[in-house]
Amino acid sequence: MKFFLDTANLDELKKGASWGIVDGVTTNPSLIAKEGRPIEEQVRMICDIVDGDISAEVISVEAGAMMTEGRKLAKIHKNIVVKCPLTREGIKATSALSKEGIRVNVTLCFSAGQALLAAKAGAYIISPFVGRLDDVGAVGLDLIRSITQIYRNYGYKTQVLAASLRGPLHVIDSAMAGAHIGTMPFKVMDMLFNHPLTDKGLEQFMKDYNKVFTETPAAR
Ligand code: E4P
Repeated sequence: MKFFLDTANLDELKKGASWGIVDGVTTNPSLIAKEGRPIEEQVRMICDIVDGDISAEVISVEAGAMMTEGRKLAKIHKNIVVKCPLTREGIKATSALSKEGIRVNVTLCFSAGQALLAAKAGAYIISPFVGRLDDVGAVGLDLIRSITQIYRNYGYKTQVLAASLRGPLHVIDSAMAGAHIGTMPFKVMDMLFNHPLTDKGLEQFMKDYNKVFTETPAAR
């Protein structure tokens, strides 16, 4: 499973990248706005930190304008993946951009039918939002399971990116369901490291070692 960071914050990206396990980045207009810089500028800086797919979302709503914006975003860096929303216009733009060889991540997917539309349009990535479905009382993970199954049935090449992941269990369950990518906030990636038995075990190893080799140098 590829791990993407779902943030436009440079400090978080630098920290994550230093762990050597970050395969890419997803951004959206809300995340870009939080950082206060225009998208082109922010995304260029992100490309300097993480060497992998970097999703940058269009803000137009009409297909022609999305295509113009998408082409402009794609020119920023070879790793840019243009993000289009799952609307009629977005699918139209996805189909056209994909035919031009521009990779598109179709975002705001909340049903398996929508995911089929994205695959048929030649999307490089589909982004089903797990946490936001949970928020409205649906089981977000069921959507990941349905999409991976449907894509397998027909051999679609579109990668399933589990988005809106709110905690480690969302990541694990998405991996169990066969999602190709999980995108998560820095906080969630950080939480994946934690286990009390790791901390306890390490503390004991250090204590035992230091008792013999550090606290009593004469014992050597
Ligand atoms: C995906 O690309 C989105 O940026 C993101 O996962 C949305 O997550 P949220 O529901 O936590 O805002």
